Amino acid sequence: MSTKKQVLQMLEVNKNVPYSGQTIADQLGISRTSVWKAIRALREEGYQIESSTNSGYRLSSFSDVLNSESISQDLEEPLSIMIYEQVDSTNAEAKRKLDEIKEGDFLILADEQTSGRGRLGRSFHSPTKTGLYMSLVLQEIPQSVDPTLVTTAAAVAVCQAIEELTDVKPQIKWVNDIFVNGQKICGILTEGILSLETQTIQSIILGIGVNMTLDKENIPVELIKKIGGLLEGQEAQVSRNQLASAIINRYYQIYEKIETREFLKEYRKRCFVLGKEITFTKNKEKYSGIAKAVDDQGGLVVRLNSNQKMVLSYGEISI
Ligand code: BTN
Repeated sequence: MSTKKQVLQMLEVNKNVPYSGQTIADQLGISRTSVWKAIRALREEGYQIESSTNSGYRLSSFSDVLNSESISQDLEEPLSIMIYEQVDSTNAEAKRKLDEIKEGDFLILADEQTSGRGRLGRSFHSPTKTGLYMSLVLQEIPQSVDPTLVTTAAAVAVCQAIEELTDVKPQIKWVNDIFVNGQKICGILTEGILSLETQTIQSIILGIGVNMTLDKENIPVELIKKIGGLLEGQEAQVSRNQLASAIINRYYQIYEKIETREFLKEYRKRCFVLGKEITFTKNKEKYSGIAKAVDDQGGLVVRLNSNQKMVLSYGEISI
């Protein structure tokens, strides 16, 4: 491990605790000049490291640089993590990595996506460092696991993680958009990879994009009124590393007992479309009705204005 990484690791272990240059040098068996050079390089990368002559160096609790050690440290289960400054899409990169990594779950994160993908063939606006863009790859999926539920569970995990770290009370717009104060702050795109031999789902790529802040000047016009940022107007300072590990921990807690469908109770409570008048398009035809329930497969049960019942298993609704 490079000196820079070793120094960072020391500062990460006890964020907010100051270490003198001498302590770092002694613990790592390096010179004070090397410590100083490492600190300078880390600051250049964007780490907020405070220093005082009396107490030493301290990593500010709000140092928002994507860092695999920092994420790993907070994870309940170990996970292989890859971080990029820029990729086309973390889901696309995850798919490419699946050719090399045949076993075990892994996580891809990026500061920026140049072709971030959304559901229904849309794009996902992913400017640099303003959002958490990540893809969790689940391998060896038991055949009994319903892929739709995997996505639904992710929506609940994101809400729980946000509540753990902030005062925000997120809600879900069916299927899996996360809303705060009437604006979408997170979208989830799940892609299943089929085994060529068995034609069954072999891996699932769970792509999660959370807008942390908004670069208001550069938001595409059509998104201005629709999207929000998790930290906009918030006191809480949450780093992308913290949010990533909280989402993953929450996700695995749910995933372990996904077949019990226990998490659907929480999904239904957070699903703000229930009881509301909705419209949607199916097979090029427009429908409207009342969203009545979310069934045990995560489908939306709708009582149409014609009084017929329809169950939607995917798609997009408007309210
Ligand atoms: C949607 O709202 O339609 C889904 C958006 C999903 C965006 C995330 S960001 C990380 C991952 N990589 C992508 O290209 N898309 C997902």
